[in-house]
Amino acid sequence: MSKSDKGKYRSAAWFGPADRDGFIHRSWMKNQGFPDDAFDGRPVIGICNTWSELTPCNAHFRELAEYVKRGVWEAGGFPLEFPVTSLGETLMRPTTMLFRNLASMDVEESIRANPIDGVVLMVGCDKTTPSLMMGAASCDLPALCLSGGPMLNGKYRGKDIGSGTSVWQFSEAVRAGEMTLQDFMAAEAGQSRSVGHCMTMGTASTMASMVESLGMGLPSNAAIPAADSRRRTLAHLVGRRIVEMVHEDLRMSKVLTRAAFENAVRANGAIGGSTNAVVHLLALAGRVGVDFTLDDWDKLGKDVPTIVDLMPSGRFLMEDFYYAGGLPVVLKALGDNGLLNKDALTVNGQTMWDNVKDAENFNEEVIHPVSKPLVESGGIAVLRGNLAPSGAIIKPSAATPELMQHKGRAVVFESIEHYKERVDDPDLDVDETCVLVLKNCGPKGYPGMAEVGNMGLPPKILAKGVKDMVRISDARMSGTAYGTVVLHVAPESAAGGPLALVQDGDMVELDVAGRRLHLDVSDEELARRREAWTPPAPEMDGGYQKLYVDHVLQADKGADLDFLVGCRGAAVPRDSH
Ligand code: FES
Repeated sequence: MSKSDKGKYRSAAWFGPADRDGFIHRSWMKNQGFPDDAFDGRPVIGICNTWSELTPCNAHFRELAEYVKRGVWEAGGFPLEFPVTSLGETLMRPTTMLFRNLASMDVEESIRANPIDGVVLMVGCDKTTPSLMMGAASCDLPALCLSGGPMLNGKYRGKDIGSGTSVWQFSEAVRAGEMTLQDFMAAEAGQSRSVGHCMTMGTASTMASMVESLGMGLPSNAAIPAADSRRRTLAHLVGRRIVEMVHEDLRMSKVLTRAAFENAVRANGAIGGSTNAVVHLLALAGRVGVDFTLDDWDKLGKDVPTIVDLMPSGRFLMEDFYYAGGLPVVLKALGDNGLLNKDALTVNGQTMWDNVKDAENFNEEVIHPVSKPLVESGGIAVLRGNLAPSGAIIKPSAATPELMQHKGRAVVFESIEHYKERVDDPDLDVDETCVLVLKNCGPKGYPGMAEVGNMGLPPKILAKGVKDMVRISDARMSGTAYGTVVLHVAPESAAGGPLALVQDGDMVELDVAGRRLHLDVSDEELARRREAWTPPAPEMDGGYQKLYVDHVLQADKGADLDFLVGCRGAAVPRDSH
């Protein structure tokens, strides 16, 4: 550190003064064995860690953080690791999405309240990535994301199986009587056989790819398996780099520009990424004040071919993706086809194009050439119509082509409990041409906008060998799921959106090519039904859930809390000593 840097950073407000307050700030820290020169004005790097044994995807993060610290010390920084709320997708109820914004508040306030000059965001399981990026973005310090990496390929009976995707397939096979319960149970250990997050192109892998395509992670951040030693090397390099970023004052807002979001949307189309990226990126853009809307998802993504052949849309898994060259190959392909903002700045101080222009594709089965895409037009389609005035989305690459233009009779479930009560009933009046409609699963309704939109098909339909039907809801869908599933209908039914007015037997029309979602019921009849509609009673009328329901924005705005939108900066708060 040069003499001129001394006292230059915000941490100097804590550690710099040679007075009573400085004594308090330094002395207690020294109980951890830090030497005097740790407080000499060098950049203090917060390592924001979502380690938790309740978040199995991030359970290796304490060890990974040690590699970040190596890099920080080596580069002349002072690393300080701190925990924040960790959101584990598999265990938390009712849904981690209810807590994404809460965790982001924890991150934002933890960063601002402490002597931190730059921050490494350790992210992995689905919501840990957006919650940490959103919180850090509202402070706008130099920040660098380090994803924890995917698990190794799942293995069962000599075949590769993918997290999530396989469990949906297996559970439907059990329901259809094609798989025994013993075989189903036997697949569990083989699916999750190493540290890391879901290794399909589910939400975690998608968000790790968003980190890299936004320029918020170092090259190859998305795909290096968690168990591969190169993930630890990456952590070491992240530690080195974040110190330089503080010296360069390379803040999040300099990286998260409109150009970065455009790159991310296109990358999402090319990888066949999760629909969850839609709400997360909209919320993140809101935090940094970038003009980026739901319609941008459609506009920017529709000419992007899906070239990555990963489950759930395709055949392979993240480990294969890494060995094929990983996300840099995809970004290069986008750049070669005029679909990348090449000059977008990234956290390593280089442009996106500098980072990816020499990427090589080592396996064209896994990463197809653009001339032989998996899906011609990937991306996310945004639908509108009298059933979704503020928009709804569908992922065409996960849908059945024959169902993308479809008119069918609605079979309506008022809630997910209502669905569970009725779906197995042999007397349920449903056939494969019907449209399954699920209400009250949006941000306010569930609450938290659960991943229940890909509701399983009724057993009597499955028994006919039918694998897909049109499904519509205000819910989200797991990134590892698939099907002709219309999601994120806005406004949601619990907020009085038209979805609340659909009744059994109504005709519903889906036209993905025409971007249309229409309820074939007259305006007069809808007005009559609206008169009779009452909002559902809240599940819990107090605590955080009340704060959430009172303030959550609709899906087309990213489902952030209204008072969290925007950047509040990281001015040093006053001291109470
Ligand atoms: Fe954590 Fe899938 S459950 S990433």
